Amino acid sequence: MTFALQINGSARQFDTPRETSLLHLLRNDCGLNGPKYGCGLGQCGSCTVLVDGVAARSCVVPAHGVAGRHITTLEGLGTRAAPHPVQQAFIDAQAAQCGYCLNGMVMATVALLARVPDPTPKQVRAELSHNLCRCGTHLEILDAVQRAARLCAEDRP
Ligand code: FES
Repeated sequence: MTFALQINGSARQFDTPRETSLLHLLRNDCGLNGPKYGCGLGQCGSCTVLVDGVAARSCVVPAHGVAGRHITTLEGLGTRAAPHPVQQAFIDAQAAQCGYCLNGMVMATVALLARVPDPTPKQVRAELSHNLCRCGTHLEILDAVQRAARLCAEDRP
């Protein structure tokens, strides 16, 4: 059965087996490497994307299950020349060490700031507590999210 998705603003048609995960489809059928494969169990957050603006762990989301929805990956945020404010904040805060978790952290932050534009440190910790960073850069990530909140506020009309 074919189904459609809006991926980073473009309409796409797919014909994949029912068991195909959204992560598999994005990486293998769309060539989008922003969402990373970490645990494959919905535990680490490295595969986080937005589904209709809400953070979702794409490794445990069946691609068929989100037919017709809007999917945003890291590639849909900004460009190297014009990064999204959240991407810029993570760069400014030097929040990356190995960088593997970073894309998921950025996507989770975009979703958080859409709901809570000025989160407290406690809210940030709670929101990102299931996005794991093996390098232990959580303090820099907390700083990045607070910088991102300020940059996004400056961008608002
Ligand atoms: Fe999806 Fe870990 S790879 S949560």
